[in-house]
Amino acid sequence: MEATGGTALYVCSVLFILTEASSEFIHIPSLIHHGMEGQSLLLSVETRFPLDEVEIQGTWSHTRPSGTRTTLVTFTKENSITDMMYRNHLRFREPNVSLSIQTLNQDDEGDYHLKLNIQFHNKTGLILEEKTVYVTVDVPVSPPVIEKSPLYAVVEDKANVTLTCSVKRGTRVVFQWLRDDILLGPGDRYHFSQDNSKVLISPVRKEDKGTYRCVASNPVSKEEGNSSVELNVYYGPYNLEVNSGQGLRTGEVFTINPGELVFFECQADSNPPNSYVWISKSRNTTQVITEGPRLEVRSYRLAQAEEYLCRAFNNVTQKQDEAQFTLVVASLGTGKEKHTQEGNSVSPLAAITVCSLFVIGCMLLFFIRRTCHPKRVLMSIYNRPLSEQKRPHRSGHEDATEDFGIYEFVSIPGKMESAQASCRSLACLESVQDMHTTIYDVIRHVPETPSHSLLQ
Ligand SMILES: *[C@@H]1O[C@H](CO)[C@@H](O)[C@H](O)[C@H]1NC(C)=O
Ligand SMILES: *[C@@H]1O[C@H](CO)[C@@H](O)[C@H](O)[C@H]1NC(C)=O
Ligand SMILES: *[C@@H]1O[C@H](CO)[C@@H](O)[C@H](O)[C@H]1NC(C)=O
Ligand SMILES: *[C@@H]1O[C@H](CO)[C@@H](O)[C@H](O)[C@H]1NC(C)=O
Ligand SMILES: *[C@@H]1O[C@H](CO)[C@@H](O)[C@H](O)[C@H]1NC(C)=O
Ligand SMILES: *[C@@H]1O[C@H](CO)[C@@H](O)[C@H](O)[C@H]1NC(C)=O
Repeated sequence: MEATGGTALYVCSVLFILTEASSEFIHIPSLIHHGMEGQSLLLSVETRFPLDEVEIQGTWSHTRPSGTRTTLVTFTKENSITDMMYRNHLRFREPNVSLSIQTLNQDDEGDYHLKLNIQFHNKTGLILEEKTVYVTVDVPVSPPVIEKSPLYAVVEDKANVTLTCSVKRGTRVVFQWLRDDILLGPGDRYHFSQDNSKVLISPVRKEDKGTYRCVASNPVSKEEGNSSVELNVYYGPYNLEVNSGQGLRTGEVFTINPGELVFFECQADSNPPNSYVWISKSRNTTQVITEGPRLEVRSYRLAQAEEYLCRAFNNVTQKQDEAQFTLVVASLGTGKEKHTQEGNSVSPLAAITVCSLFVIGCMLLFFIRRTCHPKRVLMSIYNRPLSEQKRPHRSGHEDATEDFGIYEFVSIPGKMESAQASCRSLACLESVQDMHTTIYDVIRHVPETPSHSLLQ
């Protein structure tokens, strides 16, 4: 911190010495003066030496923009000689070396040059100081006036508009343009003249509509005036929309409740305002129902889904736009609205569920039907080919679904072999009593098994 502080101090002191050295004895606060015609102007000079310890001698001279140079005043501490041509025009009072110009006019423009010789009493040698001040003289601007061509309102994309800003008085006038208080810059469609006094808008567009003003300014004044022009541009229709406070909208389909009275509003951006026509497209015929932005529909009059069309027409631009929608009458319960909207996403799952339930139901029915015919089961068991029954690995269990059902032990005399065969088919039970208990176990599992196999 100390090091940077020290450096800063050093830099400052060096700068101070340099500035002191460059303007050691005289200082001019402003090197450019913007004078106003008819006013006086003081070219102020500050002397930085004790006047009573020096002898001075100097001149003020004027160089016009054309290049001609004139010596205006020659002065010492006690005397001054003003050029006779400027005697009433300049004011110079010694020993103050500032020069005052009275009643400025255009000829006073240019460089003013001060040359000053200073000799200190306690020193030998002369010090020469020279300074130049630049002076401009301007006439203040008068309030600007705007003109528009053509005067009438124009159609978008079909016309060019020229705006001209002018002032009665003023020199070195610079113009600026504002539309609705926003500054305009050059653009694709905005062409400014050299001095900005003219703007050509080519071609004119909707967004050019507005209030135009211009600001005239120069180095000594700025005028906005109260003049403005209104640019009216005919355009559209754009952004046609159909809206309704009632019903349910999905894309271009409006669903309304039976018995409901529904209003539709048609809107489009347009200048001048559009004319609107409502057209019904039901039963393959188009028919104008009503004119104006509003359509009233009583749902009980609708037999089926009907198509409507709103047509907006701008009679100046000769352009039109249309919006079409379908009107459907359906019961929209408060809860059902959600359901109908979500129906699409839910339906595949619902379909699967319904199908599964259906299949399960069918299979259950099938098994129940089978179980209701014990005779058939018995027959199938009894009539099984002997070779199949005797195969150790094909005991009838490899296709378990076939074996479920109500089994009844029927003792038929002389058919004990068959009974034993059926016993073998049911995991080789030893006694008839045991067989009975096992049979009921099998029955208990019947309803579960098909649904299990479905889930896999
Ligand atoms: C020089 O004189 C003018 C009036 O003639 C005065 O306004 C100005 O302040 C003076 N300048 C200095 C540096 O004294
Ligand atoms: C001369 O006088 C000026 C003003 O009093 C002073 O600043 C300067 O140092 C003096 N010069 C000499 C060489 O005495
Ligand atoms: C508008 O200006 C363009 C050139 O910028 C010109 O081609 C066109 O003819 C003009 N249109 C009218 C209506 O003057
Ligand atoms: C605009 O200003 C002029 C004077 O500069 C005045 O005569 C005129 O009435 C003003 N117009 C409006 C609309 O204020
Ligand atoms: C409906 O109109 C189209 C063409 O506009 C036509 O081809 C068709 O035959 C019409 N249908 C009926 C039922 O009139
Ligand atoms: C255009 O329509 C407006 C109303 O939208 C009407 O006032 C005007 O007279 C119409 N102009 C023409 C030329 O039809």
